[in-house]
Amino acid sequence: MEGTLTRSLVFTGFMGAGKTTCAREAGRALGLNVHDADAVLIERLGESIDAFWAREGEAAFRREEERTVLELLAGPPAVIALGGGALGSLATREALQAHAVVLLDVDAETAWSRVAGSARPLAKDRAAFEALHAERLPVYRAVSNAVLPAGGPPVIQRAQHALAALARADAPGVRLLWASSASGDYPVWVGPGAASAPWPLPDSSRRFCVTDQTVAELHAGRIAQLSGMVEIPAGEQHKTLATAELVWRALVAQGATRGDHIVAVGGGVVGDLAGFCAATFQRGIPVVQMPTTLVAQVDSAYGGKTGVDLPEAKNYVGAYHQPAGVLVDPGLLTTLPAAEFAAGYAEVLKTALIAGGPLWDAVGSGAPVDEQIIFECARTKLAIVAQDERDGGLRQVLNLGHTVGHALETTTGYARLRHGEAVGLGLLAALRLSGADELRGQVRGLLEEAGLPVSIEGVDVDAVIAATAKDKKRISGEVPFVLCAAPGDVRHGAQVAADDLRASVAEIVV
Ligand SMILES: NC(=O)c1ccc[n+]([C@@H]2O[C@H](COP(=O)([O-])OP(=O)(O)OC[C@H]3O[C@@H](n4cnc5c(N)ncnc54)[C@H](O)[C@@H]3O)[C@@H](O)[C@H]2O)c1
Repeated sequence: MEGTLTRSLVFTGFMGAGKTTCAREAGRALGLNVHDADAVLIERLGESIDAFWAREGEAAFRREEERTVLELLAGPPAVIALGGGALGSLATREALQAHAVVLLDVDAETAWSRVAGSARPLAKDRAAFEALHAERLPVYRAVSNAVLPAGGPPVIQRAQHALAALARADAPGVRLLWASSASGDYPVWVGPGAASAPWPLPDSSRRFCVTDQTVAELHAGRIAQLSGMVEIPAGEQHKTLATAELVWRALVAQGATRGDHIVAVGGGVVGDLAGFCAATFQRGIPVVQMPTTLVAQVDSAYGGKTGVDLPEAKNYVGAYHQPAGVLVDPGLLTTLPAAEFAAGYAEVLKTALIAGGPLWDAVGSGAPVDEQIIFECARTKLAIVAQDERDGGLRQVLNLGHTVGHALETTTGYARLRHGEAVGLGLLAALRLSGADELRGQVRGLLEEAGLPVSIEGVDVDAVIAATAKDKKRISGEVPFVLCAAPGDVRHGAQVAADDLRASVAEIVV
């Protein structure tokens, strides 16, 4: 492996992320030398970091740390674990541009539970620790080529092929996001040319593309080594069992077997439907998602929810089927009609409201959607799915704006509103129900700026309210709502008073 490496694999992240153990595991799995920058530094200092820090102060420590790290980065390709504060050095950040930097993403609470009471000089006071976490996170993210959940060596083992591809720079300019969930892990490659990112399945598994007629003409040609192709008509009205049958039968006609896989190239409709066909064809074959709309790139391609609509309600028949991989090329969005892009923007807003923090800071300030925002939306969704794959609790926050949104889609026969347009309206209803009037005003302004509707005519309020009762999240009794008091402060399973629901719907139905 070492002979083929073009750059070092450098693990970074906050205290307690597990950089040293993960670097050791990566070195073992990939057959590479491992250097732990802190250990090298301790040897060089001849005493513990704590002792040197206490006597000489942080600035002196950072100088020694920078010197050590720069020497390691200038050496032969290897696996290197950096100290949590090493990225404070500009020279280090510049030197890292030539390497594959892996961020082990750990939240402040988990990190604190791992390091509280240790000898680390910066892990003595919880409030200061959390403030430092918030300050450093954007710096880690800005330099990273890969983000992995801080799940320790098992995650490294499962991600080893993707990490090796990263260290070999197989697909330069494409970043890795590692998705972890109860039923399986998979790589998400994001960047220009993601179509040529390392394919997440062996060559022995043949590829059958499922796409819609619009996308087929524009983008399906990007997939190499196709053994078959199934085109469906474009649009939500075709996300049906009848279309699924068409796909199953076309796969049979083209000779697909249990050893093969589907690559879904398209928006959320293709992704949901092709994913469902993959979940059920011969009792389940893998699917690789290649999202081509903003909705799909920031949301629907991840998390494994697949399915079709019934005339009675949306997404009523389906299966959980995690993709084998997701290939996200934001460049594919250049052919997307403006109205479709705008519809995707509603999902960006939803995700940023859920995430809060730097993602909301960017989106809430009206920043244009770019690769970084797409990457962060994907990361946010995957972090939620990692904790609750099957919608038992936390995952329901992703439904923010969707209860009323889906009800609007159903009552308008899936024909008048794009999904994202309905979600935008649903967000306004949810924020009204949350009592977050100022935030509602801000979101309303952002929706308008994006060219999205903030009201809809000719819809019956009672019909919309009746349709919310069919929401799939309802287990019994009342419909649970997702409320957002502030960006990053989202609560699921909330009960709302009938009058409040009526008022929130009446406000958007004119
Ligand atoms: N599974 C999930 O977790 C999840 C999450 C959110 C939404 N969804 C589902 O996603 C669907 C909506 O997805 P969508 O908004 O992507 O709609 P879509 O798939 O219907 O795509 C919208 C339109 O854009 C066209 N198109 C796609 N890519 C294009 C490109 N690059 N250039 C030009 N045209 C292109 C399509 O042909 C279609 O006409 C809904 O069915 C919704 O339920 C699923």
